Amino acid sequence: MAGTSGAPHGGSPGSGAPTEPGESAPVGSLAGRVALITGAGSGLGRATAITMASRGARIVACDLSAAGLEATLALLPGSGHLPVTGDIARQNEVDAVVAAALADAGTSGIDILVNSAGIAEGAGDTFEHSLEHWQKIIDVNLTGSYLMCQAVARAMRDSGRGGVILNLSSIAGVIGLPRRTAYSASKGAVSMMTRVLAAEWARYGIRVNAVAPGYIRTPLTEKLAAEGRLDVAAILRRSPTGAMGTAQDVADALAFLASDQATFITGAILPVDGAYTAYGAPEDAYPAELLGAPDA
Ligand SMILES: NC(=O)c1ccc[n+]([C@@H]2O[C@H](COP(=O)([O-])OP(=O)(O)OC[C@H]3O[C@@H](n4cnc5c(N)ncnc54)[C@H](O)[C@@H]3O)[C@@H](O)[C@H]2O)c1
Repeated sequence: MAGTSGAPHGGSPGSGAPTEPGESAPVGSLAGRVALITGAGSGLGRATAITMASRGARIVACDLSAAGLEATLALLPGSGHLPVTGDIARQNEVDAVVAAALADAGTSGIDILVNSAGIAEGAGDTFEHSLEHWQKIIDVNLTGSYLMCQAVARAMRDSGRGGVILNLSSIAGVIGLPRRTAYSASKGAVSMMTRVLAAEWARYGIRVNAVAPGYIRTPLTEKLAAEGRLDVAAILRRSPTGAMGTAQDVADALAFLASDQATFITGAILPVDGAYTAYGAPEDAYPAELLGAPDA
């Protein structure tokens, strides 16, 4: 189990006992935890499911795509994982997904929620964006994450055992990316929602954090690049590391935040962006002569 009942910090989660410096739970272990991961049929959600399963967690994998879930399930180490299709933007489907996860988890309940389901928008001047376009992105990225947080946290509260909730924000929630209006608004709001819920639910032993990934190579960004809506060469020049991140970079950060090494971390928005948002100089961040030809 992931959080302490009462304060979300102190000793080994569940024990209520304070730890001494140097005394800690096995590093990175998620043994015995149940993790409900949305967007688990692709990209960051899939990588997180594999990573958490490899650390001992049992995964309830949720996605719109049954085919995506099937592919993910085939990659998960361990046993007892459950695929559940559902649309996180619909209240009744969220309720059904969480009910299925709780029924499967039994008395152990849901220890970890990762809200990785999300959609990106095409570019195009904001002048031309439709209300439908705005609403769809807000519905999935913000409202969907909110509905999942609420439904799972109720169960975490009622169990008296607390838990960990992890949201996917973005560099787009930190800095202004022209034309990505609805996406950026949704991610800025996800960060703020994360802080509010951390402050409100700490008393129930529920930790709420987010990661804010930079440009990560996943099907989402590969599709944008293929459609000419993401300039990979410009991103690499603008990035202090001269590289895009990997799904594993994000999955490792999420697994850390879910672990007992992070019991006093709540309300945090962790950048996983290779210093993309830290960089503030006007010129390219990475020397062109070191960059070589981008491969995407
Ligand atoms: N890839 C990046 O560079 C990057 C950077 C910052 C933030 N993010 C965020 O990380 C999250 C995951 O992104 P990704 O790159 O893995 O994307 P992805 O497209 O590879 O995967 C997203 C998954 O979410 C699912 N999904 C979409 N709408 C859904 C809905 N309504 N209900 C249930 N499932 C739904 C999709 O079917 C897909 O399997 C998103 O929230 C995204 O905004 C990604």
